[in-house]
Amino acid sequence: MKRVLTYGTFDTLHYGHIRLLQRARALGDYLIVGLSTDAFNSIKNKQAFHSWEERKAHLEALRYVDLVIPENDWDQKRADVTLYHVDVFTMGSDWEGEFDFISDLCEVTYLPRTDSISSTMIRGGLDTSKS
Ligand code: CTP
Repeated sequence: MKRVLTYGTFDTLHYGHIRLLQRARALGDYLIVGLSTDAFNSIKNKQAFHSWEERKAHLEALRYVDLVIPENDWDQKRADVTLYHVDVFTMGSDWEGEFDFISDLCEVTYLPRTDSISSTMIRGGLDTSKS
């Protein structure tokens, strides 16, 4: 069983998220999503339209997602990789290089971001890709 881990807010679930999750799942057999909590988002000065519970329900409805866990802070990633026996850590290419520090624990890979769609855009705000 090859386990894959990714993180994000996944607000107003859109085609870019679906493509990211589909390709992440295809890197292994079991996909875990660390979903940013509302409290963590406020630390990042982000406010999702949907609550954590709603965003979790959206992700759990997808065939690509096997488990949703809370992302509470920036520093939990190494612990999560160990706790969940993760083989592959992946993120969209807007995070290219940012998580290479985990590569002593598992494979780290970045997937090309889908153009012209973001939660910020759907919420009607200014898309500064990446906050
Ligand atoms: N993602 C992607 N393509 C997009 C948008 C997001 O591949 N068009 C990926 C990101 O790279 C990340 C994951 O989806 O790995 C979750 O991204 P998130 O920040 O939740 O989505 P955004 O739409 O970028 O949200 P925001 O506008 O709030 O930054």
